[in-house]
Amino acid sequence: MLILKTIAETQSACAQIRGEERILGLVPTMGALHEGHLSLVRAARSECDVVAVSIFVNPTQFGPNEDFGKYPRTFDEDCALLEREGVDLIFAPTVEEMYPSGASTFVLVEGVSERLDGASRPGHFRGVTTVVSKLFHIVGPHMAFFGQKDAAQIVVLRKMVRDLNCPVHLIVQPIVREMDGLALSSRNRYLSEKERRQALVLHRALQKVEEAVALGEKSSSKLIETTRVVFAEEPDVRIDYIAVVNPDTLENVPDIKDGALVAVAAFVGTTRLIDNTVI
Ligand code: PAF
Repeated sequence: MLILKTIAETQSACAQIRGEERILGLVPTMGALHEGHLSLVRAARSECDVVAVSIFVNPTQFGPNEDFGKYPRTFDEDCALLEREGVDLIFAPTVEEMYPSGASTFVLVEGVSERLDGASRPGHFRGVTTVVSKLFHIVGPHMAFFGQKDAAQIVVLRKMVRDLNCPVHLIVQPIVREMDGLALSSRNRYLSEKERRQALVLHRALQKVEEAVALGEKSSSKLIETTRVVFAEEPDVRIDYIAVVNPDTLENVPDIKDGALVAVAAFVGTTRLIDNTVI
């Protein structure tokens, strides 16, 4: 497994792979890997000849009062996990390598970038689309793998790929959960035992939505009310948003007749968690 830190080395290694007509898959990550990431790696392994994983805690997608400084960095453990999964190449640049002083070009997908997490975290998606487009330029993957947990991120990235004609196929893998339903997230490491229990309310609320839909409920406001009732069971958990939106545009929909994404974000202690279900 190659571990590369510079853009020049990575560009040249990836150009060689593509030149040999081997299918190259990229799994972009910020490290602190868990089974959710590994499910992306396994999907890449089964679809592609060569699998590259990027590990980069991207400062431009964090707000000034967010957790960039304390985001878990577990590089050695990440490398050991990826080696075991048969990954071929890790690209792990420094912040200076990715954003040399004077860098002032950003990629912004207007509209969708201001919805859901983009509304709560101004500038977040501009940071995501900037770094992901840089990764696409550096690695040049045929396919890139992302998790459904970051549903809004996927919508934004799909639009970026379409609008900028990026020659890459995006593959989305289902949310991976703990046995008790908690969606896997690198940020789950921040939770105390008590918060870990409280955090289950996100999944419980979405399950209630699924049950209501199965019983015929179609109204978005009724479904949102259903989730609020469940969240009320955990008064220490602060709702950031509960939204029923069009899964392609992230715009609110009045009902779920044509399908919808039901997404929630909430603070458990100081940890912001997200989860969703597609109806
Ligand atoms: O989903 C993530 O971990 C990040 O947003 C990504 C796509 C690696 C960009 O930094």
